[in-house]
Amino acid sequence: MKRSDFPQDFIWGTATSSYQIEGAVSEDGRGLSIWDTFSHTPGKVKGGDNGDVACDHYHRYPEDIALMKELGVNAYRFSLAWPRILPLGRGTVNPKGLDFYSRLVDTLLARGITPWVTLYHWDLPQALEDQGGWPERETAYAFAEYTDVVTRHLGDRVKHWITLNEPWCSAYLGYHIGVHAPGRQDLNLSVRASHHLLLAHGLAVPVIRQNVPGAQVGITLNLSPGHPASPDPADVAAARRFDGFQNRWYLDPLYGFGYPADMLALYSKAPPVQGDDLKTIAVPTDFLGINYYSRAVVKNGDLEPYRFQYVRAGEEHTDMDWEVYPEGIYETLVRVGREYRPNAIYITENGAAYPDVMGADGQVHDLERVRYFERHLDLCARAVRHGAPLKGYFAWSLLDNFEWAEGYSKRFGLVYVDFSTQKRTIKDSGLWFRDFLREVVKSS
Ligand code: IFM
Repeated sequence: MKRSDFPQDFIWGTATSSYQIEGAVSEDGRGLSIWDTFSHTPGKVKGGDNGDVACDHYHRYPEDIALMKELGVNAYRFSLAWPRILPLGRGTVNPKGLDFYSRLVDTLLARGITPWVTLYHWDLPQALEDQGGWPERETAYAFAEYTDVVTRHLGDRVKHWITLNEPWCSAYLGYHIGVHAPGRQDLNLSVRASHHLLLAHGLAVPVIRQNVPGAQVGITLNLSPGHPASPDPADVAAARRFDGFQNRWYLDPLYGFGYPADMLALYSKAPPVQGDDLKTIAVPTDFLGINYYSRAVVKNGDLEPYRFQYVRAGEEHTDMDWEVYPEGIYETLVRVGREYRPNAIYITENGAAYPDVMGADGQVHDLERVRYFERHLDLCARAVRHGAPLKGYFAWSLLDNFEWAEGYSKRFGLVYVDFSTQKRTIKDSGLWFRDFLREVVKSS
């Protein structure tokens, strides 16, 4: 497997997100986000970690862009911190917040790296959460206003826009089981949140198109195949419900099929659809971003209201205890390509956490991660050969960073970060990626 197994114009990038790397949470007028509040609430994040400093990317971005250059990527996916730009979520714009992203974009472009901007990667302004957050329809309108502000400012230079990252996580982890910010635990709130997130996407797309000539616009979903633990029809039905919960709840309305009837039947309260909402959500996009990490194996069970239960499967697992299952990236790409027919697909995240250690030789020999990338890319190449419209791949992540509820205990980077000194060291996986991109890697 080598770079030339992919089309010549394939996009190769790394990805990050604002709260996970920027730090500088009280600088230059940034407002509070729900992750500031959540991570400072005792017991919510492992080790009491928070994103106050993170990778200090806010100050070190030129060094981080130099690292990307060294890796040889031609694109960088990052997100904007909404509360840096609109500290209260709506209304007064903070010019210093916009300036930071302008500098970042200009530096990327000067180094020949194309910026891919995600508008929302989970750091909702706390002020909007105080008014009800994503369960409230107004938050979707606030998102469209924020989109207008940033696309007017950056749209002359940024052409690739992703509205939301993984709305499933925002809605389910944030509002149903509460393991992510804002930490609320209510199924109905989560269903409402999912609808308003999708609505926010639908409202934002035309705003981006209006402000950005030649824009390429999409949304990123975290998709996982759901496999039954046994051929028992009860387990097969459970896997179908998992698929509805994780994949179809988002894919179906985005591609014009409305909310899946089998899932609607599971909820006591339907999502608060008004007027033309479903038409708004199904607005045509240029691409679908897919984040792929693993599959789920499930059996009939008692997780309410979905009535499945996760089963630990497979032999190999990452430090997140996620099964290493490269075949799932192929299955997802081919299935989504056939069933939903997106114009293009980008893998906007794929990667693995391992308990990396800095060796006595000053290097990080993360060979399991190298194998993870090799095997997933091999299956991406196969999916392209079998007709999936895959046009690019972003490795998660450029840097070790703040892994949400896991704090700094999980390392996903191609680049190792010593959080006590902020020293960056390219891991063996980063060197492998660099050589792969230069095509000096031996075929496997
Ligand atoms: O770190 C996260 C990222 O923010 C969203 N997708 C999954 C990654 C690994 O958990």
